[in-house]
Amino acid sequence: MKSSGVYYESFGCQMNAFDTEVIASIMAEEGYREVSSPDEADIIIVNTCSVREHAERRALGRLNDLSRHRDALLVVCGCMAQRMGKRLFELVPSLAIVAGTDTYDRLPKILAAARESGEQIALLDRDDTVTYAMRRIEHTGPCSRYLSITRGCANYCTYCIVPYLRGEVRSKDPSNVVATVQKMTASGTREVTLLGQNVMAYRFGDTDFPSLLGRVLNETGILRLRFLTSHPRDLTDRIFHLMADDERLCPHIHLPVQAGSNRILGLMGRGYSREHYIDIVARAREIVPGLAVTTDIIVGFPTETDAEFRETIDLVERVGFDAAFTFKYSPREGTAAAGMKDDVGPEEKRRRLRILNETIENARRDTLSEQLGTETEILLDGRVQKGEYEFWKGRTPHFRNVLVNGKRHEVGDIVPVRLKSMLNFTFIGEEPIRR
Ligand code: SAH
Ligand code: SF4
Ligand code: F3S
Repeated sequence: MKSSGVYYESFGCQMNAFDTEVIASIMAEEGYREVSSPDEADIIIVNTCSVREHAERRALGRLNDLSRHRDALLVVCGCMAQRMGKRLFELVPSLAIVAGTDTYDRLPKILAAARESGEQIALLDRDDTVTYAMRRIEHTGPCSRYLSITRGCANYCTYCIVPYLRGEVRSKDPSNVVATVQKMTASGTREVTLLGQNVMAYRFGDTDFPSLLGRVLNETGILRLRFLTSHPRDLTDRIFHLMADDERLCPHIHLPVQAGSNRILGLMGRGYSREHYIDIVARAREIVPGLAVTTDIIVGFPTETDAEFRETIDLVERVGFDAAFTFKYSPREGTAAAGMKDDVGPEEKRRRLRILNETIENARRDTLSEQLGTETEILLDGRVQKGEYEFWKGRTPHFRNVLVNGKRHEVGDIVPVRLKSMLNFTFIGEEPIRR
């Protein structure tokens, strides 16, 4: 079993992506090798998401696909494993292991047990103290990495399944966060994104989220620091003053608004009004001029009228989002909203989503084209082929995508660019000529 090849696949949010890295580090410590295709794998581990029904359907489809690899042991973990448990053995009969979100430390043992007994194992115990740390950081790491600072969520937004699957909020020891960022930096990482369902809920002893940011900035050599996701109710000006004072804290905030109508925000249990949202973005931009804001929006929440949907459209037109992730409301069993009638029909949800996406595209085009002609810097993360040309691709501090010509660079370089033109919301940049 040792030195067996493991293939990983990850669905869902950035926290799941980080968890997959943690699992890979636990497995590596036990001597397992990571392989890059299911064909080479002795073990296949799929980390899944339950946030919408569509996410589960995709994961199930993929698991059934992967069942073709009969010689490999198939493992499912993550939120869908936690939610569906043993029912997954009926839906995907060749599954060997279902591992809930708090059990990853025990995966190597469970794998050995499943191999030995040939029986299907479901391990779903919840443990609201688990905060996973990377077991080891390789000497050469990617230039941009995630690091979870909290697990769980206690907000219980009425539509959301996450608190039921990920448990109470628990925060990592700040010294551990600082030490991990130091190790990542030493391995070549230039940019770290701190993760939590609501990073503003971070608290460890006296250390709250702004103090944690302060420590990471002061005690590590990280060149760019980001964080995801922020809850509009909990945001304070301190975060923006830190951004204004230290350019390593990138001027971008992902601030899900979810809806533009106060009645719907109330039913969602979000704890803020549209006026509050518009106001904090305006205040934040006074402190950090040019701050980039991205968001998440749900259409078709139970009882949402067309007039209320129009308030979402109006909010989008006012705020100037850099980008938005948009979703059709999907009832999730066991949540408070699932007790309300899902009365906006599928056709109407599709219509609202289409109108919202068109509005967002237009608003994005306006917001982004204001940047044309300006100079900024990008962190190069790879090369891409566009037609007959090959470009470097990278992100600006505001998290905007840029392609640039030039051969002399390496992944991880931070290079100055002038934003020359735009192609489908990606900028084409050129290196400014310095005299
Ligand atoms: N913790 C983050 C993100 C949670 S999930 C936050 O609070 O914003 C990511 C996004 O999925 C949410 O922001 C929301 O827009 C969407 N989402 C969550 N539950 C959903 C549901 N039942 N139906 C449709 N979209 C949903
Ligand atoms: Fe879900 Fe709300 Fe928690 Fe985000 S803050 S994970 S939307 S309950
Ligand atoms: Fe999905 Fe779980 Fe993340 S439900 S969005 S993978 S916390």
